[in-house]
This record gives sequence, C-alpha cells and structure tokens, in this order.
Amino acid sequence: MKLNENPFELLKKSAKSKARLGVIHTAHGDVTTPVFMPVGTAATVKGLTSRDIREIDAEIILANTYHLYLRPGTKLIAEAGGVQKFMSWNKPMLTDSGGFQVWSLKQFRKITEEGVQFKSLLDGSRHLFTPASVMNAQREIGADIIMAFDECTPYPSTVEEAEKSLALTLKWTREAKEWLLANPPIHGYPQFFFGIVQGGMHKELRQKSIEALKEIEPDGYAMGGLSVGEPVETMYEIADFCTNLLPEDRARYVMGVGTPWNLLELVKRGVDMCDCILPAKNAQDGLVYTSRGVLRYKGAKFAHQHDLPLDPNCDCYCCRNYSRAYLRHLFKEKEPLGWTLAAIHNLHFYIHLMKDVKSNIADDTFEEWADEQVKMLQENAG
Ligand code: GUN
Ligand code: ZN
Repeated sequence: MKLNENPFELLKKSAKSKARLGVIHTAHGDVTTPVFMPVGTAATVKGLTSRDIREIDAEIILANTYHLYLRPGTKLIAEAGGVQKFMSWNKPMLTDSGGFQVWSLKQFRKITEEGVQFKSLLDGSRHLFTPASVMNAQREIGADIIMAFDECTPYPSTVEEAEKSLALTLKWTREAKEWLLANPPIHGYPQFFFGIVQGGMHKELRQKSIEALKEIEPDGYAMGGLSVGEPVETMYEIADFCTNLLPEDRARYVMGVGTPWNLLELVKRGVDMCDCILPAKNAQDGLVYTSRGVLRYKGAKFAHQHDLPLDPNCDCYCCRNYSRAYLRHLFKEKEPLGWTLAAIHNLHFYIHLMKDVKSNIADDTFEEWADEQVKMLQENAG
C-alpha cells in the first residue's frame, strides 16, 4: 500500500544522456531537480543564518535524526511545531535516518535484527534505534522527506556480507513503512518516505535491493553505501546501474556525494538529488570552488589581493563584499566569520552549478557543457 501520492513530477528527459528535469512537490514548497541539498546536521547549516541559506537559493536542506535525537531531543522539536519552525527555515527539509551515523560509531554500537544499540559520544548514555523508533523520531522532527532506517554496507564487502547487510536493511525498511502506515504525520502535512538501495558494489545485490524496494513502494528512492572508499568509477557505475532499474517516475537521491564533478557525472546518469558536507567542510579548510577550479585562498600570495573576490564570476554575498586579502586574514586568525563567508561562497557555487545544470538540460546542451565543466574542474582541482 502506498503511503503518499508520488511527490515527484518528471518534466524532461535529455535525449543524449539520462539527465532529467523534475519537481518534488512538498507542503513547504517545490524543489526543482537536479538539486544539491546543503547539510544542516543539527538543524543548522553551520555558521549560516536562514537568511544566508535563502540568499544562496538553496531549495531544500538536510538534517540528521541521530544528532537531533541526542540533542535537543525530538520531542522538543515536535513541541516547537517541527524542525522548519524550530530553525526558522520555512522551506522543504529532509532528514537522514541515523542509519549511517550510528553505523559510523564502529566500536560504540551493536547491530542486531531488532536495530542498533549505541553509546552516545556526548555523554556515554545507551540508546536503541529501531525502525519504529527512528520513524517516530522523524515524525516528531517533521521533515518533508524522511529516510528509511538502513545499514550502510562497508567497503569492501564479500557478496555474503553484503547480502546479509542488505537483508537487514530490507527487513528494517518493511518495518519502517508498516510503522508509518499505522502512525500518520503529527504536524499536519505529508512526509515522503524514501527507501535506500544497498548491496555494496555487487550489481546482483543492488538489483535485488531495488526489486524488493519496489514491492515495499516507498515514495522515492535513495542510493546509499556509495563514496565509502570505492574507486570513483565504481561509484558512477553502480549509480548508473541502479538508475537503469529504478522507476522513471520517482525521485532518485544519491546520499553523501560529492565533489562538483561527481554531481555532474551523477546527473548524467539519471540522479535527481545529492547532499554532501564537502562544500562546508572545505570552506573550513580554506578551500573554495570557483569558476576557474579550486582555490586555496590561505596562501601568502593572497595577502595583498584587495581588489579581487574569491571568484570574480561569482555574485554571492562573500564575493560581492569581501576581498581575498580579507578572507585570508580571517582564515589565518581562525575567525568564525571567515568560515561563514567561505561556506556561503562554496554552497552558492554548488547550488548555482545545479541551476546551470537545469538550464543546460532545458536547452539540450547539458552533456557538452558538463563534460567541459568536469574537465576544467578536475584539471584545476588544487
Ligand atoms: N549517507 C551517506 N551514505 C548513506 C547510507 O548508506 N545510508 C544513510 N542512511 N545515509 C547515508
Ligand atoms: Zn562567491
């Protein structure tokens, strides 16, 4: 049984690749795809106000169930009227299920058929995540798109290991869907449920995962377990293989990827949604993406560049107002404003890259344009 009406509308398919244009309709507005989602782990895109996030034209942001569950607690967010109200972001949101975060805890967790027991890194307290408890947490948080509770299959994994892991993810996905059917949203708007394709780098398991997920009938599909240490060509190949099998009329989301060129390659392979901490993390490390490639603006040669912004071709708040010399100074002093400005620039770069993706798909020029961009970006990757 379906949970919701399909929120995704396919608007155009490119003739020369699998790239597509679409819209995801949510109660907090439309999301035009392909889309990049800035990560706002703890209900904050680190260092940015919601005015900043709006100004870079982000259409949807992502938060994490794991972090919000531990602090401030999902009940408190429910009390605020949902995460959008809590953080003053009156636009679409997605929450990851915590499957990936608890999985990353390694020595602090135990995985059973029932769920994942884990120890909080904050205070050592013990917790149990089950498909039902995680869906309940996501109901309380109130994001427009919520993710199945899954196990991210490690890389490398043998077929046997990956198959066992996949079986667990499918069991948990069925349980999550059952729970959601029995427990409707509490904030008065639909929450679209996305299943997560796993199966490691084994195509036969990815296929099995997709066939089983189709029977569960989620509202959209994510591809998990990617960018976990495999060669980038393998990541592209698995994503390509999956989009060949996924229903064309549903949104497809690759979780946790990647560089600007990764995004272009994934769009070419039929992916609609991506998220990654990279632009925010790189901003903190003094690395920015520009129309000429990657720039490490902390270098001594930028100390006197008073008349140049990070990217002369960028119209973000940072580039409209601040020089490379000033940004280098902030970075050297470890001033939080430096991270904020660089994050604004990097996220603006990602969001506007996806805007260019959309206009090029609309104009039937995407493939040639994307190949040129990938080449230029990779040759100037710093
Ligand atoms: N983020 C990046 N990869 C994954 C994954 O495999 N599962 C989940 N839930 N989140 C992710
Ligand atoms: Zn800029």
